[in-house]
Amino acid sequence: MTSPTVPAHVRGLDPFHPDVLRDPHPVYASLRDAGPATYLPDRDLWLVPRYEEASAILRNYREFISGLGVGYTRVPDHGYRYPLVDTDPPDHTRIRRAVQGWFRRAEMAELRPGVHAVAEELVAAAVDAGEVDAVAALARPLPDLTIRLLTGIVPPSAETIAAWADAVGQLAAPDLEPRHAELAARSLEWLSTEGMEALPPHCMARALMETGGHDGGLEADGPERLMTLDSIWLAGIDSSSSLLGNAVHAFCRFPEEWDRVRSDPALIPNAVEELMRWDSPFRAFYRRTVAPAVIGDVHIPADADVCVMLGSANRDPRRFDRPDRFDVTRADAKAHLALGASVHLCLGAPVARLETVEFLTALAGRVRRFEAAGEPVRARSQTMRKFDTLPVRLVPA
Ligand code: HEM
Repeated sequence: MTSPTVPAHVRGLDPFHPDVLRDPHPVYASLRDAGPATYLPDRDLWLVPRYEEASAILRNYREFISGLGVGYTRVPDHGYRYPLVDTDPPDHTRIRRAVQGWFRRAEMAELRPGVHAVAEELVAAAVDAGEVDAVAALARPLPDLTIRLLTGIVPPSAETIAAWADAVGQLAAPDLEPRHAELAARSLEWLSTEGMEALPPHCMARALMETGGHDGGLEADGPERLMTLDSIWLAGIDSSSSLLGNAVHAFCRFPEEWDRVRSDPALIPNAVEELMRWDSPFRAFYRRTVAPAVIGDVHIPADADVCVMLGSANRDPRRFDRPDRFDVTRADAKAHLALGASVHLCLGAPVARLETVEFLTALAGRVRRFEAAGEPVRARSQTMRKFDTLPVRLVPA
């Protein structure tokens, strides 16, 4: 048994410090070596950096609950409670059952041609331009257009939806900025008024609001329907866009991996999993303990804040062979935790996979090589691992 003392070599390490955010992996490695759970006294937070314990906590949803929020700040403190991600069974089970039907295989098959067309169009335009900021030209528009196809919601502009989606992601940040809470509130206000009025007659958003989902499972009174829709709408934009930007960066850095994808496009689905593992969009999600608990051999108290470090778990050498190597043929890439696990496993995972597969397929058809055309700028987000700008030259096939 160990007490909440901080090992000397990780004392003062804060994975959310601005200096660490750009390349957190050395700090992640130190934290993993320090033990299965490390207490950060300055933030009164328990960090869980290894794969085995991170995975176990996500699966142990009775002891490590989501109902007090899955961001750094507990839900009542910033006013947002998302019906899926911030809720525990049995309510979570009911809500998830009501919306799961929109993410099945048949629904994805219907969505695919639209996403395919958009991916082809964006990639063709970027290749014609030659040099682009891959974030602005590719990574941001594809998830925006995909979520429009999925839900029927058409946002005021591409810039607005990018800012709203980023802000909602930032609600989970340790050093929460008031402007993010304001933007999140504005997006919800827009969705409930203008967004609703402009919905087409047949779309997921309208069906969810009018019928309450499959079996009418969502409550008609109160905010449950709107907040469920809001979370599906915004959860799928910044997350996927981060992954697409990280993908272009990874293939720019490792051209031999791109050659393997191009010569065997059947590798694309596995490449998508490896991208999620190697450069996971979400740095972490949080849980709260309902009673004293044990993480590995570390005892932690009741009512503790626990940070499940997805990005670190996915680079744990105890789980993945040579984890820092980006390898599109890695046999167990799909074991990553980038999409969570168990009851809260990402609802939109089939959508994220679909759009990333279509994206890489469109690129593989037209791009022989990616070359850096300037210094990429990593976002300083404490929640997401993504780029603000990523200048690249697309060398045509
Ligand atoms: C690469 C893209 C994506 C990543 C990395 C990602 C990651 C995640 C993760 C890690 C969770 C679990 C959170 C937790 O355990 O507390 C989650 C949940 C969720 N995601 Fe995603 N996501 C992505 C795309 C999407 C998309 C496209 C949508 C919607 C269309 C979406 C909607 C949701 C929702 C609604 C939840 C809550 C599920 C629940 O609590 O039952 N996500 N996502």
